[in-house]
Amino acid sequence: MCGIIGYIGDKQAQPILLNCLRRLEYRGYDSCGIAVTAGSIEVYKDAVRVEELTRVMPKLDGMAGIGHTRWATHGEPSQVNAHPHLDCSGNIAVVHNGVISNFQLLKQQLTGEGHNFISQTDTEVIPHLIEKYYDGNLEKAVETALRDIEGSYALIVLMAGEPKLVAARKDSPLIIGIGDRENIIASDVPAILDYTDRVIYLEDGDIGIITKDGIRVRRHGTKVNRKEHKISWSVDDAQKAGYEHFMLKEIHEQPKVIRDTLGEYIQAAEPVVDLAVMRGDIESVLILACGTSYHAALVGKYIMEELLRIPVRAELASEFNYCAQTLARTGAIAITQSGETADMLKAMKKLKDMGCLVLAITNVVGSSASRIANQTIYTRAGPEISVAATKSFMAQLMVLYWLMMSYSKVDARRLTDLIMGLRQLPEKVQQVLDNEDKIMEGTKHLSGYENVFFIGRGINFPIALEGALKLKEISYIHAEGCAAGELKHGPFALLSENTPVIAIVAQDNTYEAMLTNIREVKARGSPLIALAEEGDGAIGQLADSVITVPKVDAIFSPVVNTVALQLLAYYTAKHRGCPIDTPRNLAKSVTVE
Ligand code: F6R
Repeated sequence: MCGIIGYIGDKQAQPILLNCLRRLEYRGYDSCGIAVTAGSIEVYKDAVRVEELTRVMPKLDGMAGIGHTRWATHGEPSQVNAHPHLDCSGNIAVVHNGVISNFQLLKQQLTGEGHNFISQTDTEVIPHLIEKYYDGNLEKAVETALRDIEGSYALIVLMAGEPKLVAARKDSPLIIGIGDRENIIASDVPAILDYTDRVIYLEDGDIGIITKDGIRVRRHGTKVNRKEHKISWSVDDAQKAGYEHFMLKEIHEQPKVIRDTLGEYIQAAEPVVDLAVMRGDIESVLILACGTSYHAALVGKYIMEELLRIPVRAELASEFNYCAQTLARTGAIAITQSGETADMLKAMKKLKDMGCLVLAITNVVGSSASRIANQTIYTRAGPEISVAATKSFMAQLMVLYWLMMSYSKVDARRLTDLIMGLRQLPEKVQQVLDNEDKIMEGTKHLSGYENVFFIGRGINFPIALEGALKLKEISYIHAEGCAAGELKHGPFALLSENTPVIAIVAQDNTYEAMLTNIREVKARGSPLIALAEEGDGAIGQLADSVITVPKVDAIFSPVVNTVALQLLAYYTAKHRGCPIDTPRNLAKSVTVE
């Protein structure tokens, strides 16, 4: 995934493009570049971060320009592979997010026609195709070029001497921010918040023609109207607000995120949400997601099976695409923070082809997932900038709790207790956050290890997976999440005094079995850190150290345990001096399969 930006207005484009690119850097950060025009096109790009590019680049003159921050797919990160890419004449510059699947064939044909390529990227065919079809009308040339292209794209085209930008999207997000005598095109909302809160979401197949005073959208050669939306996120939401990293800020925002996400429902006396996927004679539920969202899906399975007493499957969206099964009387739920994960979008389309109704749970208004789904419930996490998902996961859990309580088969008394428990969660999460210093101190030594296991059972098994994912992605320590009962079926072979184990111990029907597992681990000499509820006297006798979390109903234990493990991962990565918000090789949303 990459971030793209385009500016046209009555100000110098360079500083605005660089500022927007800084805000888009979470989408990819192995190289970046900009192109600006004031007559001819000037390009400056390199395999560096935006900060470095800003420091070293000369002043470029022009009030229209495009920019790109890259997450390499075709060709290594290098100056020549960085965007923008140019045609032979150097008059047409393009930035692109997505994958052109037939680029080899197009490159071969264009080479035969005399076009000269210098990069290994798929993107470079786009300016050359536009050059081939250009006969004085840029938007027509773009339209014709797009007919030759297979794959996914969000792209912006800049042409020397043309007072406009042309943008197009297919299966990759693109928005247009409406300003005062200026307009900005971007991959995502956080990029433009410094300039405007008015946006248009382009749809697949749209071509936008943007000048400093106007925006036209065309589709299959005909003008279409796209509604203007007002963004509720503020600039502050997308800034660090004094925290050293976005991740730490986002961890600390979780009490608010819980309140905001539950906000519109929690006042109601009883949870009542009408879900199309749950109507009719539904006999089972399938939840699909990737990465951290998949861990939310797994927690959702445990919540639903307990409260609804129906079979629930949680599956990886990427693997669902290879399943040959047919689904009968199954309600489908797709969980995706960004709403743009390629594997998820493919799985959702497959579900719809199978005749399933799909509910999307996403954080991004107007995202592709919300367009495909039959119904969408938005989480209210606000913009999540750090690559590692934290508050968006929390918001997903809240939606799952609330939705499932709406359909709960438990008795009235239990339901009242659950609603009360849910209302107390912001306060409980705050208590974990207040314990931050102790968690930081208690886990300092973890940064010296190279392998760590996380174990849990029942509803905390997914939290063991999530704890391990958080630790590995930001600290680069190899971490494995494991169902505690599975340890002795293989992973035991890796236990030693050099392999710490972090055990999540909940006060539910898994408790005794967890204590047994902890004893087994200790017998193999592994250092053991337990995550346990306050007041658990037994655990202190067994574990080498204990991180305590506040008492909550066991069904909500994933919430407090997750926050403690996020802090553990954060401080371990910090001790190791890792680039926490932008871990190597990763990007915030994965828009390629
Ligand atoms: C991990 C992380 C990823 C995402 C995954 C799915 O911290 O952020 O594993 O959870 O790429 O992304 P969404 O939820 O946008 O579909």
